[in-house]
Amino acid sequence: MERITVQTQPIEGQKPGTSGLRKKTNVYMEPHFLENFIQSIFNGIGGVEGKTLVLGGDGRYFNDRAAQVILRMAAAQGCAKVIVGQDAILSTPAASHMIRIRETDGGIIMSASHNPGGPKEDFGVKFNTPNGGPAPEEVTDRIYAATKEITSYDIMVAGDVDLATIGETALGDMAIEVVDPVADYAELMEELFDFDAIARLIDNGFRIRFDAMHAVTGPYATEILEGRLGAPRGTVVNGTPSPDFGGGHPDPNPIWAKELMDAMFAEDAPDFGAASDGDGDRNMIVGRGAYVTPSDSLAVLAANAHLAPGYSNGLAGVARSMPTSGAVDRVAAKRGLDCYETPTGWKFFGNLLDAGRATLCGEESAGTGSDHVREKDGLWAVLLWLNILAVNGKSVQQMLDDHWAEFGRNYYSRHDYEGVDVAAAEGLMDAMRAQFDTLPGKEFAGKVVASADEFAYDDPVDGSHSANQGIRIGFEGGGRAVFRLSGTGTVGATLRVYLEDVCEDLAAMHRDPQEALAEIIAAADAIAGIAERTGRDGPDVRT
Ligand code: G6P
Ligand code: ZN
Repeated sequence: MERITVQTQPIEGQKPGTSGLRKKTNVYMEPHFLENFIQSIFNGIGGVEGKTLVLGGDGRYFNDRAAQVILRMAAAQGCAKVIVGQDAILSTPAASHMIRIRETDGGIIMSASHNPGGPKEDFGVKFNTPNGGPAPEEVTDRIYAATKEITSYDIMVAGDVDLATIGETALGDMAIEVVDPVADYAELMEELFDFDAIARLIDNGFRIRFDAMHAVTGPYATEILEGRLGAPRGTVVNGTPSPDFGGGHPDPNPIWAKELMDAMFAEDAPDFGAASDGDGDRNMIVGRGAYVTPSDSLAVLAANAHLAPGYSNGLAGVARSMPTSGAVDRVAAKRGLDCYETPTGWKFFGNLLDAGRATLCGEESAGTGSDHVREKDGLWAVLLWLNILAVNGKSVQQMLDDHWAEFGRNYYSRHDYEGVDVAAAEGLMDAMRAQFDTLPGKEFAGKVVASADEFAYDDPVDGSHSANQGIRIGFEGGGRAVFRLSGTGTVGATLRVYLEDVCEDLAAMHRDPQEALAEIIAAADAIAGIAERTGRDGPDVRT
């Protein structure tokens, strides 16, 4: 076994986005691409000598090959130990948990989350810090700076490490521990939730359908729902992970999880449906005939989390990303909880969770989580919902109805325009920025603009400042439209338009969100000139 230094040079486009560096898989497979980025992570965090890291991924195409490269590079650079999920698999929340319980110096997660996988699809790598959370901007900035200065990387010349067998092994002087990816995570879930109560609910005939979307949560959900909670076999569908996620798009929303939506809106629908994404951190909750938006899910969980043992002492506070609806704010106001508004990206919750200021966090992009790990957690959200339903005996629809009656309803929808020309998308954003001073008071499609600005965030814990985090247009009488360019896409630009309006009229709680938001949608289009600037006559995806 030999350690070599390979000469290289900076490769364009290695700037980490909202969540790590995502690229087409074939880009990642180009000579030096992966190695450059891994070396830059190592350089950006001050080297790995003597450190212990966690390594795992969502099992997508190239996951196994990338793991071997990362191990050879870590071994060549004096890393003391790497804890690897069996077959290089770890869901993102399980990796976060592993980093925390083993008190490591961080971890590398191989995933492009909900993006499709395969030779022609996406791959990704991100670094999580010792608190278990995605690296904050200060760290990703250092990693990015390192990608622009790199001249060489160190790697061992060695055969593959056996990652199929659980136990201790080594690569040169570096210890490797191959661990069961599910066990510790399942243990944590048992601590947080009343498994007996959920098991009784299931035993009484409550039917669940969990769609793992051919992705990483398959083994986790099968072990927990079918194994530990006694749900019948077949409760978990699409539960065998495949490198291309069965050719699908492992994003748990009504569009991509249509199979689940169809099942939940059918005559013989189960009581509770849920899905998770490629790497297991997102979730979708759907009752019989009742889709729960992620923003509503966060609010319902915030209002009821105390019913689960892990949260029986109440919540320290709640946090949501700026484009997420204000539904949780209404819960916080009524219950006297602190409520934080952060930029998009789970990493922004890290400080609030570490400082004990927030217990529950969530985003409109199907992410919900708590201080049990430092990532959002799909299966955790499912279990919290189940624990709550097991205690109060309600249906999902009843939960929503009661919630809206108590707190009001934030009608909400996100419209995505995908693969938009980058210059056109940036032009659209810049044109709105130029009008911040003149928009207030003007009327568009019957709505008068009350405020127009761009969200910036001052982290209350470390004082860091994040600018340009999305354009917000507020309307008189309530309601708002938010505009952002996605930070996770790999092709062109994706324009996201987030639309919201509050309803407190009990007689109007069950409208179609597109209809309830029609005026705001029209006003948003008029203000931004979406149709003219993008050449699109409607969004590609409405969630
Ligand atoms: C990832 C992050 C989320 C974030 C989302 C936004 O999934 O983990 O925290 O909300 O990206 O994606 P976008 O494409 O809107 O930048
Ligand atoms: Zn994900």
